[in-house]
Amino acid sequence: MCGIVGYIGKRGATELLIEGLHRLEYRGYDSAGVAVMNGNGVETRKAAGKIVNLEEALSANPVHGDLGIAHTRWATHGVPNECNAHPHIDCKGNVAVVHNGIIENANVLRAELQKHGHTFVSETDTEVIAHLIEEAFDGKLEDAVIEALWQIEGTYGIAVVSSLDPDKIVAARKGSPLLIGLGEGEYYVASDVSAILAQTREVVYLDDGDVAVLTRNGYTVLDQRAQQLERQVSKIDWDLDQIERGGFDHFMLKEIFEQPATIENCMRGRLLPEEGTSKLGGLNMTDDELLSIDNIVITACGTSWHSALIGEHMIEDLCRIPVEVEYASEFRYRNPIINERTLCIVISQSGETADTLAAMREAKQRGARTYGIVNVVGSTIARETDGGIYVHAGPEIGVASTKAFTSQVMALLLFTLKLGRLRSLGVIRGREIIEKMQELPKQIQEVLDRAPEIEKLADEFKDEVNFLYLGRGYNFPTALEGALKLKEISYIHAEGYPAAEMKHGPIALIDERMPVVFIAPHDSVFDKLMSNVQEVKARGGRVLAITSRAEPDLKGKADYEFQIPETIDLLTPILASVPLQLLAYYIAVKRGNNVDQPRNLAKSVTVE
Ligand code: F6R
Repeated sequence: MCGIVGYIGKRGATELLIEGLHRLEYRGYDSAGVAVMNGNGVETRKAAGKIVNLEEALSANPVHGDLGIAHTRWATHGVPNECNAHPHIDCKGNVAVVHNGIIENANVLRAELQKHGHTFVSETDTEVIAHLIEEAFDGKLEDAVIEALWQIEGTYGIAVVSSLDPDKIVAARKGSPLLIGLGEGEYYVASDVSAILAQTREVVYLDDGDVAVLTRNGYTVLDQRAQQLERQVSKIDWDLDQIERGGFDHFMLKEIFEQPATIENCMRGRLLPEEGTSKLGGLNMTDDELLSIDNIVITACGTSWHSALIGEHMIEDLCRIPVEVEYASEFRYRNPIINERTLCIVISQSGETADTLAAMREAKQRGARTYGIVNVVGSTIARETDGGIYVHAGPEIGVASTKAFTSQVMALLLFTLKLGRLRSLGVIRGREIIEKMQELPKQIQEVLDRAPEIEKLADEFKDEVNFLYLGRGYNFPTALEGALKLKEISYIHAEGYPAAEMKHGPIALIDERMPVVFIAPHDSVFDKLMSNVQEVKARGGRVLAITSRAEPDLKGKADYEFQIPETIDLLTPILASVPLQLLAYYIAVKRGNNVDQPRNLAKSVTVE
């Protein structure tokens, strides 16, 4: 959602904070601000809009110091203007706070504080934290922060500085990710490792309830009773160029083009081709335990939910075990039927999505085993699940998820192979699947090499106002994902449907102004899908078919065709998604949109 970065050391804080904010801009970008200790006290600079606006404000009115905190915002309370931008300060301007998350009892606290004479200037929930700390301050910033936190209900990742206790940053987390970066005589706090990766690779992930105190001499982690805690130091092995654009116009395009490598990375060291199965180090379940599962629930949001739907199809098909897919946001509010014989698979690129995290905790509480399919190493979901598999897609910066999606599908297939071979999947079929999986990186590259064809198609479609995406079987979720990509970044209205369902309503929409994208690879439902193509053509719709062979049946039926290489049914969603990602990308670029930072969206939704 929003992004936090803080620095204490001997170097110029402002420059380091701005650099960190730029790396976090993909998480939220409607306003930004810094608070720097300038030797006399706390000075803040804020600006509405992108971080360049903050840079302009800083060059007009610079602030210097070697300690500071900064924030890039994605508004939840109050419109995105300069006043509501973080940091927020107390009445006397001594305390500055940056905050990710939502304070649920902010209105009650605000009224209480106003009764005690506090004056508020913003509409944000965050401002109450600064006033609570002001109220509680008695010489030691961490004590005042802890006292304030006791009064807060909701979620937070915060960083706080105060001119009354000037040589430290206090940070705390509950429900919103935060980590400490360790340098030589300098320390960082950040909501996301990419903010500080250029400076250090040694980090300490904070857990919910942790309060960290950073000085130039070191750091301590306390619980909310001020008792010291031990926290492990982790080493980050991402490269800096993985979080930079590397010659591509946008992160999204770079990430689409990384897919041959990310798919390879996801499989690496995990396949047992002879046995037709996979080995999953992080599964943390014996074969007997796996065999004792009665049913599987997969929960996720957005694009990750689409990969879950593909996983459902694969697992039921090859493992013959009931699978249900649930929106994480619905799951936890509807008394789901799960127990200790249920395996709950939780899928999340970021590992921090608030609804997915809450669904996972709900499943655990009800006795289910939880298994995470996560990209971000060290993220909260990754740390809290009973077992899991990292998808190894590397940092995904573009807000619209691409490479993480295809890797999630791959990870689900690895799991399917493992469970399938224990249950109903024969070794010959297992081997065949692995053989086809190994062909994928090259096949994705073949599709990417033909990106200019998709760019041309984008010219044809860029001015449309509506789109339908239709698919069947494994590719119904692909249709949903193609439509989601398009709406997220092009702002064109798009719907995904199971192709045959069209007759039950959406067919009324079809006329010559309705482009229809059919996901029509050569699979077991190809012939069925052909009749759906004819239904659309008969009503004047314009058809773009993503198909996998020059099928005589299709010739003359689709207005436009893009062929993907042949593969087995269950891998077609991966190959078909690539041209759909490119189509959305090129249409959005041609419409002049900022594809990496689409309006109203944030990379990681860490609020409910
Ligand atoms: C779409 C997109 C979102 C995310 C969703 C879940 O391109 O990125 O729909 O998939 O917010 O996020 P994660 O996977 O981080 O839990």
